[in-house]
Amino acid sequence: MFITFEGIDGCGKSTQLRLLGEYLKEKGFDVLSLREPGGLPLSEKVREILLTSEEKIHPITELLLFEASRSHLVNNTIVPELKAGKAILCDRFFDSTTVYQGYGRGLDLELIHNLNDMATLGITPDLTFFLDLDYEQAMQRCGKREKDRIEQSGRAFYDKLIAGFRELSERFPERIVRISTNDEIENVHGKIVQTVNSKFNIK
Ligand code: TYD
Repeated sequence: MFITFEGIDGCGKSTQLRLLGEYLKEKGFDVLSLREPGGLPLSEKVREILLTSEEKIHPITELLLFEASRSHLVNNTIVPELKAGKAILCDRFFDSTTVYQGYGRGLDLELIHNLNDMATLGITPDLTFFLDLDYEQAMQRCGKREKDRIEQSGRAFYDKLIAGFRELSERFPERIVRISTNDEIENVHGKIVQTVNSKFNIK
């Protein structure tokens, strides 16, 4: 089982991923929670560069760094752990690249698709939750914590991201389930559990 969580910063992905992980553990699954970029020391180093670098990073460089981090995590963790029967929950995966570097930064979507394919070895999540929240609400939730390099990109960038995620969820309705997170945490969790139960026949 491979489930990913997507959405703009502040949409509530991490909380919902944690709650689903706890639910699946109770149901007897061997759960592994990961995040992108990150998850392994090398990928965490790339994450650090991507989020905190004070040097100007060209969009293509940014794209390749995200893919490098992903390729490392897929080869060293995701492939072997899926084979070992783990239920993997991942905070962001290749849809984030399509949306942030493609719709957001304006890089060629076909190029991104090919690089995503290369970095993931063609692995696609069984299910992806797109947690949908407006820019204002998301920024309110981020609160006063300091913004990382990507979060400093501004309102117009975020509007493109939201439109991108919405478009992807319409293009791949079998895989990507859009859920509004302008709601109580427990209600959102309930919808996620319902979807997972029906997809994987969990009683
Ligand atoms: P993170 O702090 O993990 O954000 P969040 O907690 O909201 O997931 O930072 C990851 C940032 O990197 C986030 O702004 C999204 C961005 N990102 C991309 O631009 N492309 C990608 O392929 C991935 C995985 C993340």
